[in-house]
Amino acid sequence: MTRSEQLFKEAVEIIPGGVNSPVRAFQSVGGAPRFIKKADGAMITDADGNEYIDFITSWGPMILGHNNPVIRQKVLEACENGLSYGAPTEAEVTMAKLICEIVPSIEMVRMVNSGTEAVMSAIRAARGYTRRNKIVKFTGCYHGHSDALLVKAGSGVMTAGVPDSAGVPQGATQDTILVTYNDLDEVKEAFKTYPEEIAAVIVEPVGANMGVVLPKEGFLEGLRSLCDEYGSLLIFDEVITGFRLALDGAQGYFGVRADLVTYGKIIGGGMPVGAYGGRKDVMSVVSPVGAVYQAGTLSGNPIAMAAGIAELTQLKEDKDFYKKLNAMGDWFYGEIDKILKEAKAPCTLNHIGSLGCIFFTDHEVTNYAEAKMSDTKAFSEYFNYMLGEGVHLAPSQFEAMFLSAAHTKELLEGVLDKIRKYFVK
Ligand SMILES: Cc1ncc(COP(=O)(O)O)c(C=O)c1O
Repeated sequence: MTRSEQLFKEAVEIIPGGVNSPVRAFQSVGGAPRFIKKADGAMITDADGNEYIDFITSWGPMILGHNNPVIRQKVLEACENGLSYGAPTEAEVTMAKLICEIVPSIEMVRMVNSGTEAVMSAIRAARGYTRRNKIVKFTGCYHGHSDALLVKAGSGVMTAGVPDSAGVPQGATQDTILVTYNDLDEVKEAFKTYPEEIAAVIVEPVGANMGVVLPKEGFLEGLRSLCDEYGSLLIFDEVITGFRLALDGAQGYFGVRADLVTYGKIIGGGMPVGAYGGRKDVMSVVSPVGAVYQAGTLSGNPIAMAAGIAELTQLKEDKDFYKKLNAMGDWFYGEIDKILKEAKAPCTLNHIGSLGCIFFTDHEVTNYAEAKMSDTKAFSEYFNYMLGEGVHLAPSQFEAMFLSAAHTKELLEGVLDKIRKYFVK
């Protein structure tokens, strides 16, 4: 038995499923998750000392590579001054200024501790500001595990949200309207049915929780104009795309401005952080200025702020960062696409910048229903082959691959060789 297997055996007795977040489980691919001991650059090392090239990168925040020396140093320095005060700090002001400076649509921002909290709070602010209750959400988009948003299933337009999880009362999701990603007609229909009841449309500007699904041309712009027409707010959930597609995230990449934006892990450099922000008039409804209550003892924690500031500052100061990262993504995923085509593999490659996904279906994937056409058994075989070859992929067909600045061309060429060996028989 390996050390990972031993730890997993112990873990399942005392942690549900042996993991503290279900996406880490190997349920859909079989076997025990690799328990990680350390990570550096693009590499991650498990409890048995096996090294892998990591494409999870903590689900995004390690965009500079694992164990970034500047972030590490700033965290160590911050630790010298105590870990938490429960009172405001200069670091929180610095962080807020950084975000507002980088992202033009953000005039005010509130720090929280996770993406879930950020989205839950943004929805509450949107409802408080508009004095409306309904939320439009796209099937297949994940916005954290708060009750109102834990709805993915449903058969298309205007299905009143049916909870995806036990423990979520029907009442919590009855105001969540589910529509199909990339289908503006369904959104129009929702607005026509509830012209004065929709507080906000929330969207992942690039779907990154159903594999990687790109917005069709005009989709995000269409959401913007529908929200304007009906007096609703547009919320971009940039937990994945923020500071990844571009310094100013999907808003900058696609040139569409949201009213509220949510961020998560990436702005914490590896520490538990999230944030929501946007228009000043909307953010002004948040307590203690306004009537929308939202709070957090550890929000803006000094160690987390030190890590986040160190990360965002490096991203901001390297003027070519996104050009280089996205060019690497274009090349790497482009090469994978060539291999799949050469092998005539029944697969579809979706990618944008440093995010990519091989779907094990030959159908184009533009929404959740199409993503679900994938052969998850075929994915599982591929996953286990890659793991055996020292490549650490997310253990699910419906997750993205994340590149970081530490994924060099040389490393990626090695990965391409392994992919070629698998597909070109
Ligand atoms: C787009 C999106 N929103 C929200 C969340 C929730 O973030 P967290 O896991 O930090 O609560 C996630 C998590 O991956 C996400 O991908």
